[in-house]
Amino acid sequence: MIAQAVLAAALSIPLATAQLARAVVQTTAFNSSFSFSHAQIQDAQLDGALVETLQNIVNYDRSQLAFGGPSEDDFYRVPPLASTKNVKPGQLLKVQAFTDPTAYAIPPSTALSRFLYTTTTLNGTLIPASAFILWPYTPHQFPSGSGPHKRNPNPSGSAKGKVPAVLWTHGTSGFSSFWGPSAHRALWYEHAAPFALAEAGYAVVAPDYAGLGVATSWDGSHIPHQYSAAPAAAHDALYSMRAALAAFPANLGSNFVVLGHSQGGATAWAVAETLAREKVAFADLLPGYRGTVAASPPTDVFRAPAFFILPTVGQALQSIFPTFRLSEWLTPLGEARARLALQVEGGITAVQQLYFGRNDTYWPDWDTASWYAAAFARLSAVGRREFAGPLLVVQGTADLYIPFDATNKTVADTQKLFPKSDLEFLVAAGVGHVPVLHATRQFWLRWIETRLAGEPLVRKGPFRTDLQSVMPIEQHLLVGNSFPLWGGLPEYQYELPLGL
Ligand SMILES: *[C@@H]1O[C@H](CO)[C@@H](O)[C@H](O)[C@H]1NC(C)=O
Ligand SMILES: *[C@@H]1O[C@H](CO)[C@@H](O)[C@H](O)[C@H]1NC(C)=O
Ligand SMILES: *[C@@H]1O[C@H](CO)[C@@H](O)[C@H](O)[C@H]1NC(C)=O
Ligand SMILES: *[C@@H]1O[C@H](CO)[C@@H](O)[C@H](O)[C@H]1NC(C)=O
Repeated sequence: MIAQAVLAAALSIPLATAQLARAVVQTTAFNSSFSFSHAQIQDAQLDGALVETLQNIVNYDRSQLAFGGPSEDDFYRVPPLASTKNVKPGQLLKVQAFTDPTAYAIPPSTALSRFLYTTTTLNGTLIPASAFILWPYTPHQFPSGSGPHKRNPNPSGSAKGKVPAVLWTHGTSGFSSFWGPSAHRALWYEHAAPFALAEAGYAVVAPDYAGLGVATSWDGSHIPHQYSAAPAAAHDALYSMRAALAAFPANLGSNFVVLGHSQGGATAWAVAETLAREKVAFADLLPGYRGTVAASPPTDVFRAPAFFILPTVGQALQSIFPTFRLSEWLTPLGEARARLALQVEGGITAVQQLYFGRNDTYWPDWDTASWYAAAFARLSAVGRREFAGPLLVVQGTADLYIPFDATNKTVADTQKLFPKSDLEFLVAAGVGHVPVLHATRQFWLRWIETRLAGEPLVRKGPFRTDLQSVMPIEQHLLVGNSFPLWGGLPEYQYELPLGL
């Protein structure tokens, strides 16, 4: 059966008379025709090449949205609340149990749900946020004799069995509501994690993080995305897990492992620290918690290049330190570009283009002239603290964004401070930032499986495992070369020969 025939069957058209759609050339012409105004170009001092580059990026980004994205999709509108008085964080606000998967480029046989729930900003203000759940076709089948089988036999593997969960915390997408992964056709990280997890039989519970997805709170106020504030994102993650369990009590198992990468790697590690610190607040989730995988985690945000981290962390810092002004860190040019990024909701690639390698967008003494950087560094750091284990930290040695020696040092210090805690460090030689998730997939999938199966750790306490490539590292593809081109209209289905 080919996809058109499936469509015909679904529409009850007899197969013999179904018409195959005519094949139409799909160019990479974007579903967006944004261009800058003259005033924007002047204000941000963009030269012709940068104008063209940024317009292409913005139009590409806007073409990757399902249902037109958060600004057009009513799902992201919060239902009114009579009062926030009796509302607790982690409370469900809206459930979309069936999210039409034909608007997404997710793997065949998976299903998608989305929900809105309550979380808090870093200072405890209650706000709404969004999340998705990517469902597998059938729950993960554990090796016979391992944990869940003994406690909750499901020998037929029927869909009636609850699905074990992985709480997935994504890496940087962007800095505003546009950038909720739940609105992205490939859920932002595609095969690097959420697709791989769903295809392995896990329900992927994935917070967008506050400020990404839902743009405005009940009172109409703007919701900031407190970028890099790992403890805030950790709360977004835990509250999304609580809300997901309330939304799908019949489908979602309460046992879960946390997996995160980059911004989300720090978030995942912060989840483990939060669970060690706030045992009473999360007494409902702790019995099901089985451990955390933190991949490529920025344990100290200011180890990232200043040209990138100052405008991105700075954009929401006023919501954390009310006296902060962007002019503390950025020059007038840097501020102008930050305004532009905000106006066009530029994501990570647009922001990189605006600032990459420049030293004239921030003040040279940004770290010493005021107290904000030191204070935020303390607030956002992960590691060197008690954590609810076990914890697996994954890092590539050729990571351009998260220096290997930074993670190496944080892991070593944490292992030394907590020699009785289970902290494994998995090091992949020659591998870069996101590719480390691909390089080490079999290891973290096995780790997740054994945690959820209730098997003992292979080795207790602190240790390090080193991986090498099979062929000389230069022969392996360094970064991915494709993007999730959506072929979901009949005239493009010839581009999906495996859509059988
Ligand atoms: C194209 O963009 C519009 C406006 O955002 C949106 O409503 C529509 O669904 C998009 N179409 C496709 C095929 O992506
Ligand atoms: C807490 O943060 C919110 C933004 O998230 C801000 O509007 C509010 O003024 C802050 N409250 C305090 C007491 O700092
Ligand atoms: C900034 O970069 C320019 C060009 O690369 C260089 O000439 C200049 O010395 C740098 N200034 C500072 C303060 O680092
Ligand atoms: C990583 O940390 C360990 C333990 O502190 C140290 O011995 C090692 O030299 C560090 N660097 C590398 C490249 O492994």
